[in-house]
Amino acid sequence: MRVRWGIAGPGRMAATMAQAFAEVTNGELVAVGSRAKERARSFADEHGIPRTHGSYTQLCADPGVDAVYIATPHPQHTDIALTAIAAGKPILVEKAFTSTVADTERIVAAAREAGVFAMEAMWTRFNPAIERVRELIAQGAIGQVPAVHGDLTAYREFDSQDRLFNPDLGGGAVLDLGVYVMSFAQHFLGTPDTVHVAGGRFDSGVEGEFSVLWGYDDGRSSTLSGSFRTYGPGRMALLGTQGWIDVHPRFHRSPSITLWRGKEPETMEFASGYQFEVIHVGECLAAGLTQSPIMPLDDTLAVQRLMAEALRQLGR
Ligand SMILES: NC(=O)c1ccc[n+]([C@@H]2O[C@H](COP(=O)([O-])OP(=O)(O)OC[C@H]3O[C@@H](n4cnc5c(N)ncnc54)[C@H](OP(=O)(O)O)[C@@H]3O)[C@@H](O)[C@H]2O)c1
Repeated sequence: MRVRWGIAGPGRMAATMAQAFAEVTNGELVAVGSRAKERARSFADEHGIPRTHGSYTQLCADPGVDAVYIATPHPQHTDIALTAIAAGKPILVEKAFTSTVADTERIVAAAREAGVFAMEAMWTRFNPAIERVRELIAQGAIGQVPAVHGDLTAYREFDSQDRLFNPDLGGGAVLDLGVYVMSFAQHFLGTPDTVHVAGGRFDSGVEGEFSVLWGYDDGRSSTLSGSFRTYGPGRMALLGTQGWIDVHPRFHRSPSITLWRGKEPETMEFASGYQFEVIHVGECLAAGLTQSPIMPLDDTLAVQRLMAEALRQLGR
């Protein structure tokens, strides 16, 4: 099965994804939609995409589009996702899935009710390095894993025009960077029982940095941080009772891991990219699934709630 994809939102991430489609073995990019036909056309010309639409509704209604990849700012994911689901189109929705728990719940409920596939584009989970980490942990390579520690830090000069600093466009470090560290820890440890958060905000109201301490009633814990105001490595460590695994910077791209067990560390390198998540969606669709076993909707809901709790504690 070859999935004919349409992209909603011809911005920066869409341009990156358009290039990744060259590596997608079970799908192709056939259409792009924008709020303005000329922007869709210019994006299509640049990336060799055959069809263009001057509205997201038209893109979702295109009978030549099998699935829609949504790459608008997070608050603008919701209407497009609901429109695509109503048209029976599977969706791959950029992280953060939405900017509020209520919006994520609406999309998840609509997808479940319609029996339409929906997945958050948390590409880290599909990179081969993380697939290997899953295998190693399942094999007991580092024993039990009671802790995950890491950061994702990306210095950004304040720019009031950029969505990253605009509260109306889902700006702030929690939704942009926190989603990665929280989704990673939630993937390997599950949803925590307690959450403590510290951080600060820009004048525009969005947070510039955060540090999170998650606790589990059985004694496990996780410390996670992210910032727009400092530089930092972007590394993750999974600590086990018989060893540990470093996911090297930048962990969300997952270029390499080191397994520390016994005396000799073992470092492994991997390809990484956005094609792996897109290929996974194609495989799920071919298998008739309505959600991904690796990035299930319950995990998206859990992480959205954890981000909302972090924002609440930071006064947003
Ligand atoms: N997975 C990753 O590594 C990664 C990396 C970067 C970003 N992302 C995610 O991708 C999404 C888009 O980020 P981006 O940096 O590509 O954003 P961007 O460059 O600002 O582009 C967003 C696009 O969304 C469309 N849009 C629709 N409604 C809009 C509105 N009300 N305001 C502004 N734009 C609107 C715009 O196209 P028209 O105006 O033509 O409709 C615009 O081109 C975000 O959810 C972000 O978190 C993911």
